[in-house]
Amino acid sequence: MTLAAVDKTKALYGLLWTKEDVVEPPKEYHYNKMQEVIPEKIVRGRWGIDAGSGCGYDTHLMAKDNPSVKIISMDISDGVYTNLKLNRNLSNVYVVRGSVLDIPFKEGVFDFAYSFGVLHHTPNPQKGVSEINRILKKESPAFLYLYEDHSENPVKYAAVKIINLLRGITTRISPKILYILSLISSPFIFIFFSCPAKVLSIFKSTKKIAEKIPFNFGTSLFSLRGDLYDRFGAPIEYRYSRREVYDMLNKYSLFNINITRLKATAGWVVWGYKK
Ligand SMILES: C[S@@+](CC[C@H](N)C(=O)[O-])C[C@H]1O[C@@H](n2cnc3c(N)ncnc32)[C@H](O)[C@@H]1O
Repeated sequence: MTLAAVDKTKALYGLLWTKEDVVEPPKEYHYNKMQEVIPEKIVRGRWGIDAGSGCGYDTHLMAKDNPSVKIISMDISDGVYTNLKLNRNLSNVYVVRGSVLDIPFKEGVFDFAYSFGVLHHTPNPQKGVSEINRILKKESPAFLYLYEDHSENPVKYAAVKIINLLRGITTRISPKILYILSLISSPFIFIFFSCPAKVLSIFKSTKKIAEKIPFNFGTSLFSLRGDLYDRFGAPIEYRYSRREVYDMLNKYSLFNINITRLKATAGWVVWGYKK
């Protein structure tokens, strides 16, 4: 994977996060969805790290609810500037620009690590897991969210294949244009995918079908802009089967590895503890 792909990743997310409106941070974000399916508290101890924190939405929610826990909010992109603004009133947030592939902290210092949707956009996700493992204290957990390959779901598996074909073109489009295209197409995807999925999810007999529909998680007309931008723009994207996710953590000796999915959304929620 070339340096150009990493530079493109930085530029792509830098633009996305500087476009986010941070006057009013969201009341709920990925952290809440993760906490919904993880039967223990994510935020704990004295020091935690949100690795690949984007513009810091999840860091904000974690830090606000847990003022005694200090959180390093780290990202490789210009998202750190939006993050500084967003979290300026939270004295337990420390914004750092850095890479999850070379975390700028010594080993064994964090009580938990959290990384949502990051490692699969790096050239070496395995290295990311080993770095996260390195900076954790003994028996402390890493909570990760990773893309799944949908090998367990033929409809979504086919959708991924089609999206991958399109990605051959869309990942070459400049971030600015792609952002506009994502904004314009979000209402269509919302109406044709998310709305039918919402209706189908109401009835017990059709709930399973709703879960198989791509973009079933849209909440409003423009809510899918970031997901579309991410899905079609990120130059590096790895996807994993359940087994591969397990192996990735197991390889770095994390123990008590758990794998589940977000409620009603695709993707692996995986967590394990440093030996
Ligand atoms: C899909 S976004 C997720 C952001 C955030 N975790 C969230 O849930 O909103 C992926 C993030 O990973 C960051 N990223 C990509 N490669 C990275 C790396 N090597 N180190 C740290 N952050 C990275 C990007 O800049 C981007 O903000």
